[in-house]
Amino acid sequence: RSARAVAAAMSVFVTRRIPAEGLRVLSQASGCRVQQWDSEEPVPRAELLAGVAGKRGLLCLLSDRIDREARQRRPCLTGPDLKVISTLSVGFDHLALDEIKKRGIRVGYTPDVLTDATAELSVALLLSACRRLPEAAEQVKSGGWTTWKPLWMCGYGLSDSTVGIIGLGRIGQAVARRLKPFGVKKFLYTGSGPKPERAAEFGAEFVPLTRLAEESDFVVVTCALTPATQGMCNKDFFGRMKKTSVFVNTSRGAVVNQEDLYNALAHGQIAAAGLDVTTPEPLPTDHPLLSLKNCVILPHIGSATYATRNTMAVLAANNLLAGLRGEPMPHELKL
Ligand code: NDP
Ligand code: DGY
Repeated sequence: RSARAVAAAMSVFVTRRIPAEGLRVLSQASGCRVQQWDSEEPVPRAELLAGVAGKRGLLCLLSDRIDREARQRRPCLTGPDLKVISTLSVGFDHLALDEIKKRGIRVGYTPDVLTDATAELSVALLLSACRRLPEAAEQVKSGGWTTWKPLWMCGYGLSDSTVGIIGLGRIGQAVARRLKPFGVKKFLYTGSGPKPERAAEFGAEFVPLTRLAEESDFVVVTCALTPATQGMCNKDFFGRMKKTSVFVNTSRGAVVNQEDLYNALAHGQIAAAGLDVTTPEPLPTDHPLLSLKNCVILPHIGSATYATRNTMAVLAANNLLAGLRGEPMPHELKL
């Protein structure tokens, strides 16, 4: 092949500033030509369309919607030359997989490497919500801490509790593994079906969503966002939870009906919530959920350790290169 054909075959668009390690993998790859939206802010749609035009590879983020571009009447925004999409995430709900599959585009993603960081953050968020850490820390600053008071700032602990995990996948199992030593009495889980080989380590019982809601002291949502899970945690769900229970979501905001969650928290139907993900992201600063003391909200930082983000970037770059070379990817999504 001519040098020009090789260069065209290895042309990629990167939709954001990413850890340098990842970009280095791309720029040092033989023949790889990188164009990047070199900013901390999301690429505007028009720039995304322009950037990807004529490229064979796309390295994107969960905030880039890779779907049908109606205005251009193209089947997919990705243009006719695109062969590989590599997302810097394990979640892939931002990708229109039907369209992508139809066009024979391969997809890489980043499972496993972020499991520990995300599970750790899920536990931190759970403890922050159930032991009221942000609220208590605020009292120290505001002068609300006047003396040690027996009835003040009490919350709920994990010891002897029942924990319900929605989606006992990689992250769900890693959360359960970390929570077990806190003295959890019973693990429940739900998903597309029982997974005895995953559940054995925790003696976890597969139950319907309704029973999980009714019996859990802590609910942790770690499932993928799919049509089946969208809006799954709704009025009925929160209505079944105990008044003393704590709800934690580190999956995707759209799994939760936020209005229903607000009502449940505001009216004492559940004790507290911790959210790392919301709809939309970022959550507007005047959103009603932010007015609640019993709701801890983080800006989608589940995988945000330096090491994890570096590893994700390198993996995403290697997925992209392998796809462009027609080789097996380190982590390819089976479409
Ligand atoms: P996995 O694919 O290992 O796990 C996904 C889980 O979703 C599976 O256990 C699956 O259950 C479950 N699931 C699918 N359908 C349903 C359903 N109808 N009801 C209940 N559960 C269901 O993925 P990971 O654990 O690696 O990641 C999970 C998600 O976490 C990602 O998709 C992403 O959205 C989110 N995430 C968020 C991060 C953050 O920063 N907050 C960081 C990383 C990931 P089953 O096996 O029974 O089908
Ligand atoms: C993912 O990977 O899906 C997270 O949301 C960000 O790491």
